Amino acid sequence: MNHFQYKNGQLFCEDIAVSDIAKEVGTPFYLYSKATLMRHFEAFDSGFKDVDHLTCFAVKSCSNIGILALFGELGGGADIVSGGELFRALKAGISPQRIIYSGVGKTEEELHYGLESGILLFNVESEQELQRLNRVAGDMGVTAPVAFRVNPDVDPKTHAYISTGLAKNKFGIPINEAFDLYVQAAEMANVEVQGVSCHIGSQLTLIAPFVETLRKLKVLVERLANQGIRIKYLDLGGGVGITYDDETPPHPLEYAEAIKEELSGLDVTLIFEPGRVIVGNAGILVTEVQYTKVNRGGEKEKNFVVVDAGMNDLARPSLYDAYHGIQTVKENNGPRQVVDVVGPICETSDFIAKDREFPMVEQGELLAVLSVGAYGFTMSSNYNTRPRVAEVMVSGRQFAIIRERESLESLIQGETIPKFVEK
Ligand code: LLP
Repeated sequence: MNHFQYKNGQLFCEDIAVSDIAKEVGTPFYLYSKATLMRHFEAFDSGFKDVDHLTCFAVKSCSNIGILALFGELGGGADIVSGGELFRALKAGISPQRIIYSGVGKTEEELHYGLESGILLFNVESEQELQRLNRVAGDMGVTAPVAFRVNPDVDPKTHAYISTGLAKNKFGIPINEAFDLYVQAAEMANVEVQGVSCHIGSQLTLIAPFVETLRKLKVLVERLANQGIRIKYLDLGGGVGITYDDETPPHPLEYAEAIKEELSGLDVTLIFEPGRVIVGNAGILVTEVQYTKVNRGGEKEKNFVVVDAGMNDLARPSLYDAYHGIQTVKENNGPRQVVDVVGPICETSDFIAKDREFPMVEQGELLAVLSVGAYGFTMSSNYNTRPRVAEVMVSGRQFAIIRERESLESLIQGETIPKFVEK
């Protein structure tokens, strides 16, 4: 069941009225349902309960330590892509032995930090990264656990900006070249080859690209075994999509069944890096209508609902033309009109919804932007010197602010007016 429901005409998150939280916290704010977070984590994880596996939540999708800690308690690990995300995962109490590190541009400092922390696996994405990792590990007197992220050249059939497994994308090592690199790595003194990794894209609504990828990975794993290189971990990345509008992604259990069927006979521990499928539908963005206005004079009249959340708070609509449902917090079955829901930012790309049929709303009304739990807060910025908004978690009748709204002071922290001495 969905934990964002109307009760007596008011939108509730679990057992609290969203408007009651807004009164205390102010708007805008991100609101997560703990029950939904847990249920979605378990829905994914339980699909693999009968096989050796580790679910490493993709920290980039929703990185609040309050949320990471929750998944840690449920037995999850973390998929990180920066030293910053490693810092967060450790702060959330996730064991380094459940942390895997992906990303095409790991710096020397980041590799050092990962090694020093004793993480489970580095997903290496280039020959130069392998050499750097080998050198840094050697300098530290340790051995780096390595998987290569291979690029299988499979079309995930998703938005071009979030496709990562095509040969033309910057990610991974072309699958045809990977074998030679494994052989090379096996000879190196300070790395230990342990895995094969892959992530072909995000918001996938089909199972076929995953299966096609897995078939290619299996061939590689078997070829490596024949060469005496044993693969312990097979990391299949993230990417399972969710319903924002009318998409029909596979259910996590369906995804799990398809993967397990393909894998029979392979003796590996599976690693997954899901983000969106776990948190996407577990969060909403609550915003207040500031103004309504009609702009006439163009080809057709345009109705605008100006809210206090902008593209700096939720970048997905402007960046990917992404669809997010919007509901009034007070149930409204009145007449509807076609509107653009826009923010206060000085850009025409600052919109949350375009040409959306929506109930007539008034100044001061609260709206809930749906399915923003993934890549919502984490992609927010301070553009237009706007403090990043609060994050709140609900559990039953209780709520906790898991990230305070930023203050104006904090926004200029570290800035100075320079004093140059003229000569
Ligand atoms: N693993 C790696 C290496 C990734 O790059 C990603 C996402 C994931 C796992 C998690 O993928 P997921 O399960 O969430 O699909 N900002 C975009 C999405 C970017 C995805 C980047 N990589 C959006 O808002 O749609």
